[in-house]
Amino acid sequence: MKHFLTLKDYSKDEILEILELARKIKIETKNKIFKDYLPKQTLAMIFEKSSTRTRVSFETGIYQLGGIGLFLSSNDIQLGRGEPMSDTSSVISRMVDMAMIRTTAQANIEEFAKYSKVPVINGLSDEYHPVQLMADYLTIQECNKDENLIVAYIGDGNNLAHSWLNLCAKIGFELRIATPIGYEVNQDILKEALNDAKVSGAKISIYNDPKLAVKGASVVTTDTWVSMGQEDEKEKRIKDFTGYIVDNTMMQEAQNDAIFLHCLPAYRGYEVSAEVLESKASKIFDEAENRLHAQKGIMVWLDSKRND
Ligand code: CP
Ligand code: NVA
Repeated sequence: MKHFLTLKDYSKDEILEILELARKIKIETKNKIFKDYLPKQTLAMIFEKSSTRTRVSFETGIYQLGGIGLFLSSNDIQLGRGEPMSDTSSVISRMVDMAMIRTTAQANIEEFAKYSKVPVINGLSDEYHPVQLMADYLTIQECNKDENLIVAYIGDGNNLAHSWLNLCAKIGFELRIATPIGYEVNQDILKEALNDAKVSGAKISIYNDPKLAVKGASVVTTDTWVSMGQEDEKEKRIKDFTGYIVDNTMMQEAQNDAIFLHCLPAYRGYEVSAEVLESKASKIFDEAENRLHAQKGIMVWLDSKRND
């Protein structure tokens, strides 16, 4: 049995295999062909943080695959009143066929997976957001940007930045990350990615000047400066991220036909300007839709590995 906890645990071949499956299922979905890949299966969806895309894409996805999703907000289940993650997992995983969890520390997801009898999917933690990156790479493939790919990630060294590092290190493209001083990526995650990059041929560079990172990039991406749980730091962060907005001037440094990605939700006028978000280069809504398709691929793939 396999879990989907970080992209570090996946090989390039596995990532590409899941995305191939996602593309196949996407074509079927677009043609309104809904095959029962996961008949009568139940997906538990545990949320300790808010969500629009993750909730809707997983719930719709499992339904379209022939199963059903259970939305379990930590406000409503005993987890929120202190029932241990281990007991929650032991109980839920005896009743459902798969579980998705959005939580704070990655260690919580690992704890849940340790006690789970069914595959567990990371729906975002403070450290990683692997399902988002699967949708992002699917979007990159669809825009024919996967050859000679140069991604510039501008902003906070957060869960998104870490999952970009994981993906890049496995696939083998060029990734440039620009963060303000004090907001760098986790150095252990960077070190591990640099190690994997030796095998894949990935090129990873770290900058404090966003313009340098964007120069000649084929994909430009960013994320909120204030992640869930950091609301108290909002004022300070807005000050510290001065100069990091992805606006038209910044995009001009990239390749002429570069695309812009954002996991959303986006905050116009902060990490990205309204004009860039709404420009032709912006693929944000294809990217959001691809959450549905990529995750259907992940769920079907995990189901196929159940007895491994
Ligand atoms: N990108 C993303 O995960 O969005 P939600 O927080 O709305 O799920
Ligand atoms: N970095 C953001 C991503 C939201 C999808 C957060 O963790 O809040």
